[in-house]
Amino acid sequence: MHVHPSERRWIWIAVLLVGAMIVLVGYTAVVMNVHPPSNVEAIDSTRLHLTPEFAEDNLGVKRESEGAVIARVVMARYMVHPQEITLPADTPILLRAASADVLHGLHVPGTNIGTQVVPGYVAQVRTRIDFDAVAKVGVANDDGSITVPIYCNEYCGLGHQSMWGRVTVTRK
Ligand code: CUA
Repeated sequence: MHVHPSERRWIWIAVLLVGAMIVLVGYTAVVMNVHPPSNVEAIDSTRLHLTPEFAEDNLGVKRESEGAVIARVVMARYMVHPQEITLPADTPILLRAASADVLHGLHVPGTNIGTQVVPGYVAQVRTRIDFDAVAKVGVANDDGSITVPIYCNEYCGLGHQSMWGRVTVTRK
């Protein structure tokens, strides 16, 4: 079969690009600990306040048995509820987030917490916060803890830029 030389060249360029992307995805996953949130768990976003898990008095941070920490937040235009949470460094953390209205994003600089919060689904991130990494980007408090922001990084409406919260990270 005859393939024109310039077509052959473009076939190779396409193959190399795909290969480069696969290497890049592997590198960010293994070295930088970046993973796509893969939790598929449906929830009725219009009735979050009526669910046991995302009712207002169940939000925030709880310590489970075996020392793990679970944090629950609800994102709604244009607030993160609760607006401030405290998480320990170097501890397994399960973060569960739900949207009460539209698509939001949840990003915490200095950590690998970064997920879309899609209405109708529970966004879930398992992580461990590196104290030194948040210390580089956050604000140091008098008690030695570090505060970093929570950003909404999906455009969700006119108040998007003022939708934020705070995570205070304590040394374990
Ligand atoms: Cu919520 Cu942007």
